[in-house]
Amino acid sequence: MNKILTLPRLKAMKSQSKPIAMLTAYDYPSAMLAEEAEVDIILVGDSLGNVVLGYQTTIPVTLEDMIYHTRAVVRGAPNTMVVVDMPFATYRLGPEATLRNAARLMQEGGAHAVKLEGGAELADEIRTLTAAGIPVIGHLGLTPQSVHQIGGYKVQGKSSLEAEKLLSDAKALEQAGAFGVVLELVTEELATVVTRSLEISTIGIGAGRGCDGQVLVYHDLLRYGSGVRDKRFVKSYANIGDTIRTAISEYVQEVKAQHFPTDKHVFSAEQPTTTTAALYGGDTKQ
Ligand code: KIV
Repeated sequence: MNKILTLPRLKAMKSQSKPIAMLTAYDYPSAMLAEEAEVDIILVGDSLGNVVLGYQTTIPVTLEDMIYHTRAVVRGAPNTMVVVDMPFATYRLGPEATLRNAARLMQEGGAHAVKLEGGAELADEIRTLTAAGIPVIGHLGLTPQSVHQIGGYKVQGKSSLEAEKLLSDAKALEQAGAFGVVLELVTEELATVVTRSLEISTIGIGAGRGCDGQVLVYHDLLRYGSGVRDKRFVKSYANIGDTIRTAISEYVQEVKAQHFPTDKHVFSAEQPTTTTAALYGGDTKQ
């Protein structure tokens, strides 16, 4: 049985250079399989907007969506640390509203920690959450909730100005009490510098080999779902989408050809009663 990762153990992993494996999950079976595979942290990412709900961006995802999916994930992975994304704008209305929303994700969803996209401007919110006992992980680099401001899903921190800003944001998150930072689509050089400059953990996605851990989206790792685009930073370890499509086609063909169900899938009356005998004919045993 897995032991839920705690913040002190996470800190020890950094000092012992033990890599952290994080994976997103959005429902009971994905969480159960992730726990069985011993991922360190499950992220109920608002990427569920893209890969589960079929939105173009993460912006339409609501607090209710996140609570609903987090509850299922926690049921599937009761022994794994579960971090949940605070959805778009739910932490941008001041520390009090942020605390109210984060508390719902913890109390109603059952998450162990929350993730926020943004830098130094969130220091007050992070201080308020951590003072209330809510662990917070930041998210810098490509922050999908700001995609319209950023102008697309592109690598961040390429210029020295951008790199300096990202590093100072990471330090501000640490200072405010965050226990880690997700670095998304950041150059390997910058992610390595950030990781070495912080005492808290960095978890990268498209941020190279210098981070303390890695995170991937469940559907990308498994090539599950037709909307999965080819992304250079993703490694797919299986092609579940093809397996599912083939299986469903086979089922459809067998139904149409009347090859399913067969004898072994049907139930028969072993001892016909008067009623079944009247219906179907044959002997009756009373
Ligand atoms: O929503 C998400 O899945 C994420 C990961 C990409 C880190 O934020």
